[in-house]
Amino acid sequence: MYPLETGSFAPRNHWYVAAWSSEITRSPIERILLGDSVVFFRTTDGAVAALAGICPHRGFPLAKGELIADEIECPYHGLRFRADGACTLVPSQKVVPGACRLRTYPVTERWQWVWIWMGDPELADEALIPDHFEAKLTDPEFRCAGGNYFDVPGRYVLLHDNLLDLNHVPFLHKGTFGGDGGGAIQIPEVTSGENWISCTFTQPAIDCPPFLVELLSYSGLVSRKYVSYFYAPCLHVILDSISALDAETGEAKPLGALLHIHAVTPATERSSHYFQGEGQNFSHTEPCLSKAFRSSEMVKAALEEDVSAAIEIEKSIELTNGTLPEILLLADKAAVLGRRMIQGLINQEKTAVRG
Ligand code: FES
Ligand SMILES: [Fe+2]
Repeated sequence: MYPLETGSFAPRNHWYVAAWSSEITRSPIERILLGDSVVFFRTTDGAVAALAGICPHRGFPLAKGELIADEIECPYHGLRFRADGACTLVPSQKVVPGACRLRTYPVTERWQWVWIWMGDPELADEALIPDHFEAKLTDPEFRCAGGNYFDVPGRYVLLHDNLLDLNHVPFLHKGTFGGDGGGAIQIPEVTSGENWISCTFTQPAIDCPPFLVELLSYSGLVSRKYVSYFYAPCLHVILDSISALDAETGEAKPLGALLHIHAVTPATERSSHYFQGEGQNFSHTEPCLSKAFRSSEMVKAALEEDVSAAIEIEKSIELTNGTLPEILLLADKAAVLGRRMIQGLINQEKTAVRG
């Protein structure tokens, strides 16, 4: 499916962000991940349980049920399931049918979110989760806060395209994140390796965007450099360094850096989950600046601009019967590489299955 090859959706043998840790409580929730319904809850010892979310009896969504100690009870006819997927009770009969069990998904908590493995559980190696310290999320130099979530009616690759294409910042985010439309971003420098892409975008000289004036207590000319790191197929971390620029000498003096944290997880073929947070390496005071910034109206408005781009393009794809004609520009290099990388991961899995 666009922009991937026909018959390709998403690679499964990878870790994806399923939820914010704070979302998983003693009240079950359902999330559709890579086309599967998954029900999440916490057992009494605080562990996250992730099970197939559709009751194997007659298909009722288990998340509408309730927990009896560490078991989830289907509200339709009362079948109960443990966190390991075993059915422990069929109220209408003594014998539990052998086939009556739920698939379980490997999960683990890192930083502020829950990661899930949607593929072959035998291959679920936690060492494959991106290193959160290296990504700066747990680096003490930065204060990071998560919590933003969008249920996006648009295919996940559109969100990756957006995050690998910061050339949209001065335009789509005119007046919010990107400043007032000035200072088009230069063609990115792109490097890549196994399952990662790094790209550097710069705005050499712009007026300090209004939200940064407030955060950095500085107004005047700045240079802005974004180093974006994509840990395929889910996580993006963008280091956004801002320097005060002396217009006469061209000297740049660092003011601080923001960290824009994004995770994208496919829901269905045409919808996605988008998790977002913010960090900063200055003003390490309470209350946490990142927390206030992450939940600020400005950040939410900017994210809604990105989400609306995915929604609008999804509509265009639908109108053009799933094949969107495109003229790709030099500035699309990183996004194109991201698409190829995701396609490569899908193809590897197809080859492994055939092998
Ligand atoms: S559908 Fe769940 S118990 Fe019948
Ligand atoms: Fe954006």
